[in-house]
Amino acid sequence: MTAEGAQLSGPDFMQGIEAARLAEGAMLLGYANGEAVLLARRGSDIFAIGAVCTHYNGPLAEGLLVDETVRCPWHHACFSLRTGEALRAPALNPVACWKVEQSGGKIFVREKARRPAAEARAASAATPCAIVIVGGGAAGNAAAEMLRREGFDGSITMLSADDAAPYDRPNLSKDFLAGKAPEDWIPLRSPDFYRKKEINVRLDAHATSLDAKGHAVVMSDGSHVSFDALLLATGARVVRLDVPGSDLRHVHYLRTLDDSTALIAAAERARRVVVIGASFIGLETAGALLERGLEVHVVGPQARPLERVLGPELGDMVKAIHEDHGVVFHLGTSASAIDREAVTLKSGERIAADLVVAGIGVRPETGLAEQAGLAIDNGVLVDAYLKSSAPGIYAAGDIARWLDPHTGKRIRVEHWVVAERQGQTAARNMLGRREPFDAVPFFWSQHYDLQINYVGHAESWERIEIDGEPSRRDCTVTYFEGGRKAAVATVGRDFESLRAEVELERSRAGA
Ligand SMILES: Cc1cc2nc3c(=O)[nH]c(=O)nc-3n(C[C@H](O)[C@H](O)[C@H](O)COP(=O)(O)OP(=O)(O)OC[C@H]3O[C@@H](n4cnc5c(N)ncnc54)[C@H](O)[C@@H]3O)c2cc1C
Ligand code: FES
Repeated sequence: MTAEGAQLSGPDFMQGIEAARLAEGAMLLGYANGEAVLLARRGSDIFAIGAVCTHYNGPLAEGLLVDETVRCPWHHACFSLRTGEALRAPALNPVACWKVEQSGGKIFVREKARRPAAEARAASAATPCAIVIVGGGAAGNAAAEMLRREGFDGSITMLSADDAAPYDRPNLSKDFLAGKAPEDWIPLRSPDFYRKKEINVRLDAHATSLDAKGHAVVMSDGSHVSFDALLLATGARVVRLDVPGSDLRHVHYLRTLDDSTALIAAAERARRVVVIGASFIGLETAGALLERGLEVHVVGPQARPLERVLGPELGDMVKAIHEDHGVVFHLGTSASAIDREAVTLKSGERIAADLVVAGIGVRPETGLAEQAGLAIDNGVLVDAYLKSSAPGIYAAGDIARWLDPHTGKRIRVEHWVVAERQGQTAARNMLGRREPFDAVPFFWSQHYDLQINYVGHAESWERIEIDGEPSRRDCTVTYFEGGRKAAVATVGRDFESLRAEVELERSRAGA
């Protein structure tokens, strides 16, 4: 979801506003010098920061104040009111910060405050000199950036098997695939950014093995890359179809930018697509291809899409949204064969298709960790600080399985924001911070103009409570597991999602 930036509205803060208009714990949207500004009061302090989130331009004035921070309603980024710093992904850039003055019962916003430069960290014997990151995705990129933000001045090498520098992967099944986002939105950073930050990004660089004791990564060309500390952030790979015809050229998958551009090129020549898999990615892909004018059929084994994650009510809601737009579902079945003209289902039905996309799940890319003998159990096992079982080696993102203090269970999730936040925490811990990873998981999914926000983690539940009306696309769905609130999904209630996040943050297993 994107916006061109908030329209200027509200008072001109440079002209001053009556102090009484800004109550304790309240926010006010206005502007200063042609820029949208958010004014917030915390006790005797009044803060003025940029009002537009640096992720996708979300409206911070509709977000939630928590202590001296504000959280974005769209994808839960968090900014410091005091410094404008992006404290939590998915925002990677700060917002501006303005000086504020009070006089004669009025509040005035003055000029922008200067941002303090990152202080170089004093190196200690324990600080690594060379940090290597395997993976140029969400976690890898966020980690590399955080190392520099924390003042690390040693060498950073990011090895990525991808031939594109880190990009906005969630967009590949959304606006980009639908043709509503130009390609220049997709890179997370420009090549210049990495050059200036002295982050050595090596693309098309395949790590084939890891010498955990010798502290070296072995590359496909036989070369060795030595490290003092290593972050494994290798993400996940798609599960491939295993039916006759699945190797035909019109059968596509969606994980990388190359996959998405190949799919767009194929969609331009196609009339009818069968999406195999009624998963989040399968359904987002279905919606995006429909927006490109294709006839879309979705095949899935379950009775309702997304029921296992979201429950029957939201499953029905998502199905209805897609049907309203013209998607045809074939549920309770799966593909048994593909040929050049059609997909044949187990039921015997044939669906004509000149394009097929499979979205049948992913597996964590744990090969390097396994081969190096790191502890593995449905992912790379990490401690509270995201450290693996091998000294100096951390893991983050889709591959990491950590002990979630909120559920008391080891979990592994495949969410963009979690991967970025883990990359950031791992980076600080590689520099000796000892910061536990205790963020409540968050993900979003977008279907046309509807967004589902989900906080927490419930692999199963004994009870679902629904407030509102899913069919009206306005509801809060709460999942209870083991007698406690484990997760909350919202539709059309972004503010509720933020409040639920805070509530879940304050709850700990056994507390
Ligand atoms: C199309 C799509 C849409 C999505 N939409 C959403 C969404 O809406 N919301 C949400 O929360 N999540 C979404 N996700 C999931 C989200 O993108 C992932 O959870 C996230 O990218 C995981 O980050 P990561 O850093 O662990 O792995 P990735 O981002 O996958 O990065 C892994 C990196 O490791 C590299 N790599 C792997 N093996 C090697 C090797 N041996 N040597 C060198 N490099 C290697 C890869 O090339 C890649 O650069 C989506 C995913 C996809 C594919
Ligand atoms: S727009 Fe603010 S977090 Fe995405």
